[in-house]
Amino acid sequence: MRKPKKMLIDTDPGVDDAMAVLYAAHDRSIQLLGLTTVFGNVCVDKATRNALRLCELAGLDVAVAQGASRPGVVPPLDPETTAEIHGEEEFGPVPPVVPDRTKADEDAADFLARVARENPGEVTVCALGPVTNLANTLRRHSDFAKHVASIVMMGGAVYAKGNVTPFAEANTFQDPHALAEVLASGIKVTVVGLDVTMKIFADRADFASLAARHPDHGGFLEAASGDYISHYESRGYPGCAIHDPTAVIACVAPELFQFENTALTVTLEGDEAGRTVPGRGNPACVCVDVDAEALKARFFHTFESGASWD
Ligand code: BDR
Ligand code: CA
Repeated sequence: MRKPKKMLIDTDPGVDDAMAVLYAAHDRSIQLLGLTTVFGNVCVDKATRNALRLCELAGLDVAVAQGASRPGVVPPLDPETTAEIHGEEEFGPVPPVVPDRTKADEDAADFLARVARENPGEVTVCALGPVTNLANTLRRHSDFAKHVASIVMMGGAVYAKGNVTPFAEANTFQDPHALAEVLASGIKVTVVGLDVTMKIFADRADFASLAARHPDHGGFLEAASGDYISHYESRGYPGCAIHDPTAVIACVAPELFQFENTALTVTLEGDEAGRTVPGRGNPACVCVDVDAEALKARFFHTFESGASWD
């Protein structure tokens, strides 16, 4: 058996973030060292509450460190925009629950830097929201870039069209300045954007089947994802995109993807703000294609106990 990959997940839960965190709890090729939270789909206080709830649901005994409440430069997105997709409390119609557990004393930037320092060259940060926490970590901790192994981020629409504007994907749109700092950091950055995530759709039958096989986690995801699926169906898609789980899977199953090593820049202002533009800027590894069926199979079957992908 291969040694599990040490990972930190930076998240703004979020229906598909919930899918990603619960998935990570089951995949034995992942050693999850903690979660950090960021504004995005929801304000950061709710993101932290939701992340703690996911840890309780998954039986994950890891720290949850709260991070940025807003972008550094651009104004935050109108909360109505994300509530329409993920629900007011971010798990669709599932009512909010106050978790028993509490967040870590350290904030996200200090936590990310410390865990990377304690595991030099071993930690992959999988970022599932705006990368504001990573930019803050780089600014506050000059040794972070040296210690972290890589960043895999769900974000961007390099060749595909955007989802908040014709040009920009939601995570890169919400803090393009942070992404510019991350791309310029010298850390290996893998971009898992709409170029691949809009090729993988999960429908009600997929979640019903998961719920039958794993009532706790599958049942939660089935309930949380109903309105999220409707949002995609109303736009003509055959189910919901599973954006964030795709980024987590890219960390441990790169064989399911095709990559392009290119220079990448992000547009900071104007109508195209948040656009990820190839061909100039800093080196990045962009996911350009995916084996959608294999990825979906891995996502839905890893929840079954005993599933192994070694
Ligand atoms: C990304 O934006 C959020 O709505 C999702 O959680 C995902 O991280 C998709 O554009
Ligand atoms: Ca997310």
